[in-house]
Amino acid sequence: MNLPKLREAFAGDFLIGAAVNVRTIESQQKLLADQYNSITAENEMKFELVHPDEDRYTFEQADRIAAFAREHGMKLRGHTLVWHNQTPNWVFEQGDGAADHDTLLARMRGHIQTVVGRYKSDVYCWDVVNEVIADEGPELLRSSKWLEITGESFIAKAFEYAHEADPNALLFYNDYNETNPAKREKIFKLVQSLLAQGTPIHGIGLQGHWNLYGPPIDEIREAFERYASLGLKLQITELDLSMFAFDDRRTDLTAPTAEMLELQAERYEEIFRLFREYRDVLTSVTFWGAADDYTWLDYFPVRERKNWPMLFDANHQPKEAYWRVLRAA
Ligand code: XIL
Repeated sequence: MNLPKLREAFAGDFLIGAAVNVRTIESQQKLLADQYNSITAENEMKFELVHPDEDRYTFEQADRIAAFAREHGMKLRGHTLVWHNQTPNWVFEQGDGAADHDTLLARMRGHIQTVVGRYKSDVYCWDVVNEVIADEGPELLRSSKWLEITGESFIAKAFEYAHEADPNALLFYNDYNETNPAKREKIFKLVQSLLAQGTPIHGIGLQGHWNLYGPPIDEIREAFERYASLGLKLQITELDLSMFAFDDRRTDLTAPTAEMLELQAERYEEIFRLFREYRDVLTSVTFWGAADDYTWLDYFPVRERKNWPMLFDANHQPKEAYWRVLRAA
């Protein structure tokens, strides 16, 4: 069967992306090439994967993903340079103690220069800083080794170093839960203050790890309105619609029910209708995967629980959600 292609259906609106890894660029190759025009490395460009030791970089897997994008004429998003997760301990250590302020910033700069420099002709935009806002409480920033050692200065510096390494790259701040009013406002404040300092930042990434029951569409709209008022581009960077509410820890389901599939289809359609309303500021929508045979949600937040968050099923066949997304086009 010759399916309509998502990347063509939304060609006038935004890019349609998928997160890939070194396995799925093989196992999902045909689906990826058919339907998507952008990819993001799910893990392969993260700090611990490309820079496991101070004097050793390992680019083999990231290179394969960059080559896949080139071979298929796809855009490549870079993910991610500075994060509290998936960063090796050596980065924060020195002798028997903690690295000092200058050492940590020098390491961050070296890392960014090397990684951004290497993919200069492949990666058109980077998630420079990922998830630094505190989820709850009055603090603006999440506690992390980065924050502990450098104070908040690592954030602006990361953007400056990335800009230095590739002045043409679009530089994004990426986070989740921007549909929670308090967190949304904190993200807004951070980015607003970066802009006021003249930091080279060009966009905000909204991850979009959502589910069948939330967040409400109006809260997504609020986030678009608020962030667009900063004059930046927006991207959905990690979209998936889990079948389970976040605090639902049940593990007994071996297949999605008909009701779940229908609800998922309705939600996806609503969400894409909203995305299209904002197509002037929303330049890319990336799913965190492509088909239900592999999703990080099979391991998170419950270790071994199958989930079915994508538009294509485990056999790469279109689900009802796929047809409903096309209806929004
Ligand atoms: C996830 C990957 O999908 C997993 O394979 C890995 O074990 C942990 O990270 N927010 C992000 C992504 O910015 O990098 C995360 O990716 C999912 C949440």
